[in-house]
Amino acid sequence: MESHDKNTTHRLPETHRRIILFPLPFQGHINPMFQLANILHIQGFKITIIHTQYNSPNHSSYPQFRFRAIEDRFSEVDHLRSTNRDPSYFIKYLNRSCEDPFKGCLIELLDEEPVACLIADAMFYFTQAVADELKLPRMVLRTSSLGCAIGYGAIPFSSKEGRFNLMKQDPGYEAFVPEYPLLKGKDMLKIAINPEGYGDLVTNMLKQMKASCGLIWNTFKELEEPELETINQDFRVPSFTLGPFHKYFPASSSSLINQDRNIISWLDTQPPKCVIYTSFGSVARIKDVEFQEVAYALENTSSPFLWVVRPGMVLGSEWVESLPEKFLERVGDRGRIVKWCPQQEVLAHPATGCFWTHSGWNSTLESICEGVPMICSPCFADQPIVARYVNDVWKIGILLDDGFDRVGIGMAIKRITMDKEGEEMRTRISHLKEKANLSLDDGGSSNRSLKSLVDYISSF
Ligand code: UDX
Repeated sequence: MESHDKNTTHRLPETHRRIILFPLPFQGHINPMFQLANILHIQGFKITIIHTQYNSPNHSSYPQFRFRAIEDRFSEVDHLRSTNRDPSYFIKYLNRSCEDPFKGCLIELLDEEPVACLIADAMFYFTQAVADELKLPRMVLRTSSLGCAIGYGAIPFSSKEGRFNLMKQDPGYEAFVPEYPLLKGKDMLKIAINPEGYGDLVTNMLKQMKASCGLIWNTFKELEEPELETINQDFRVPSFTLGPFHKYFPASSSSLINQDRNIISWLDTQPPKCVIYTSFGSVARIKDVEFQEVAYALENTSSPFLWVVRPGMVLGSEWVESLPEKFLERVGDRGRIVKWCPQQEVLAHPATGCFWTHSGWNSTLESICEGVPMICSPCFADQPIVARYVNDVWKIGILLDDGFDRVGIGMAIKRITMDKEGEEMRTRISHLKEKANLSLDDGGSSNRSLKSLVDYISSF
């Protein structure tokens, strides 16, 4: 896998060189925050990471950083996660439960040495008031796309007009959403299970992004150029697009789950561009009937497949108990199921031909960077927006917007792996891959953005 080893340190004044970072404790947020920490560390900054006890990172993997753990009381609600599928409930809880411990920790750190700034995950919106009180500049890392931030600002998060409880037969179901015509009515149903709760989270997040000193995005200008213009108009604070973060170094290792590396030797035995890699990220959960449709679709294709089934991903199951009877015997060595894998390496492997994904932003960027076209089964939050970009804007994948159905999935797999349409998608995504690489080269857009960010932080 290519990586852009940016070891050229941008020279900084000797003062104000510690930065405090505060990731939201979920895999899709931890990965980009740790990648950003590494990028800034290579640029000469000292790094302290404040983290919750929940999903605590492994300190010994990062001898170059300092860590401070804070009490989060997440165990008081964690048991509800098997029944409550509304992520906004848990994120808003963390915003309340972390406030006092975070503030106490920050006061102690500020007493120890000068700190240039705080960089907090955008979803930790409570940190703006704390930073203001302590007169510490706060920057924000938003771990999703620019397009998603625009969409979140436009979508009316209210159940009153019935937007979030449309039925298939309702006229609005297939119609475009007037306030944000990239999405259809049916996409809205996936974005939020609890629209008021999610709307509240989004409103707080956007408000405190606007109140921050600046925004850091894991994207690159060439991918979202019109969106960057809109963001620069709407958010009157500087935006720094220095992604894709994971391409600054060889495959990153902030995984909370053990990655099954044996799978790479199995991939080595497969023909080029043939394997369908299937994974729905670290949070999404699917029903057992949906899980079975995925299984039948993979069985029915003639392609080899690698399927990540995270323990707990299937509602009501520990792991793969609800697989169709004798599934594993029937597919034999053509298919592999693992609990977690080194995704970046799998996507970069020459045998991988297609990524069937939930359209999480990290997964999407990782796929773009390896030129692998996608089949999108978005589950919630930003994923339906990202999937529409993949399908309608960049045209580098196929959105399955009618749920998990083996026939529809089979057709999408055929379109990508065998049809001319799939070849065209592969060509378009290869161009984006090239643009991503160029953006990181010296003088490229992300490289320039990183230099501006370093100068900006140094000026605090
Ligand atoms: C969540 C949200 O769901 C997503 O929409 C949002 O953009 C970020 O937060 P998650 O669902 O985990 O993230 O998806 P994603 O953003 O794709 O991140 C998953 C990360 O886990 C990726 O960096 C991927 O490389 C890694 N991963 C996934 C593995 O290392 N191994 C695996 O087997 C699967």
